[in-house]
Amino acid sequence: MTPPEVRPAVVVTGASRGIGREIAKVAARDGGAVVLVARSAVDLAAAAADVRAAGGEPFPLALDLTAADAPMSLENFLAQNGLACDVLVNSAGYGMRGAATALPAADQVGIVDLNIRALTALTLHFLPGMVARKRGGVINLGSVASFVPGPYMALYYASKGFVRSFSTALHQELRRTGVTVTCVAPGPVATEFLERSGAGRARLFQYLPKISAQDVAEQAWRGFKAGRRLVVPGAVAKLAILTSALLPSAILLPLVGKLQRRGNDPCPCGSGRPFRKCHGATGLRRLRGCE
Ligand SMILES: NC(=O)c1ccc[n+]([C@@H]2O[C@H](COP(=O)([O-])OP(=O)(O)OC[C@H]3O[C@@H](n4cnc5c(N)ncnc54)[C@H](OP(=O)(O)O)[C@@H]3O)[C@@H](O)[C@H]2O)c1
Repeated sequence: MTPPEVRPAVVVTGASRGIGREIAKVAARDGGAVVLVARSAVDLAAAAADVRAAGGEPFPLALDLTAADAPMSLENFLAQNGLACDVLVNSAGYGMRGAATALPAADQVGIVDLNIRALTALTLHFLPGMVARKRGGVINLGSVASFVPGPYMALYYASKGFVRSFSTALHQELRRTGVTVTCVAPGPVATEFLERSGAGRARLFQYLPKISAQDVAEQAWRGFKAGRRLVVPGAVAKLAILTSALLPSAILLPLVGKLQRRGNDPCPCGSGRPFRKCHGATGLRRLRGCE
């Protein structure tokens, strides 16, 4: 008896909304199977309808990727549907704005769990199969935040630094295997991420124009298909990366901190008072060693 045919699938995490949902729609235009992963079954059903309308065959899977057995749950789901992961898109991620000493520690560690640990676990789980088949690859959502440390969004920036470093090294290791690893590094994108993370209330993100999730998805998919190591969608993101490379850390770090902090944020000194009231005057800040 011939074994049942296994079909290649594009697996997109964070597919229920934002950039992941748009990448799923772009991938669906190739007409194949698209596996949509996120926690919200309701939003996934809407994303599945988008994928079907775009010409793909949707396979929604409601799954919390921070669960230790998430890669195996996904693998089992693929096997049950006669699919193999041909392209993995790691778009699920979140961030939090605020002083690291003031934000809940567990929620900040959760950024490591999703943006780093889950992304790494899925990548390492599915890459060997791609290498054996000599095709496919991984798209990892980094950020312009991967190019600098980010005071008042420390965990998020650090997590994206990991994503870019990890993806870049894998891209080099996998040269001539037929498998590509692409890191996508957008600047601010008009999605719910900005509101949910609190980044949308920071001056840095209020000043910078936002690119659409559709534009990011189109450029990410095109760059991946062309075998690119890094895709930086949009002029704003390119300019931000160039500026951060030119400015010395002594100027860049206080600047990023100032643009990400708000006066009514809890002060990082631990007083529990708003920053503005605690160390509002520059002289006082220096006196108390806050900055
Ligand atoms: N938006 C920006 O300005 C921007 C800029 C640069 C980089 N990025 C990066 O791009 C990626 C996508 O961002 P986005 O703007 O599309 O964010 P978003 O709109 O907030 O979407 C995040 C997605 O991740 C899913 N998700 C969150 N926690 C999850 C979990 N534990 N398990 C499974 N899925 C989970 C969410 O679905 P559920 O809640 O249903 O689980 C949702 O589908 C992120 O990695 C982000 O860091 C975003």
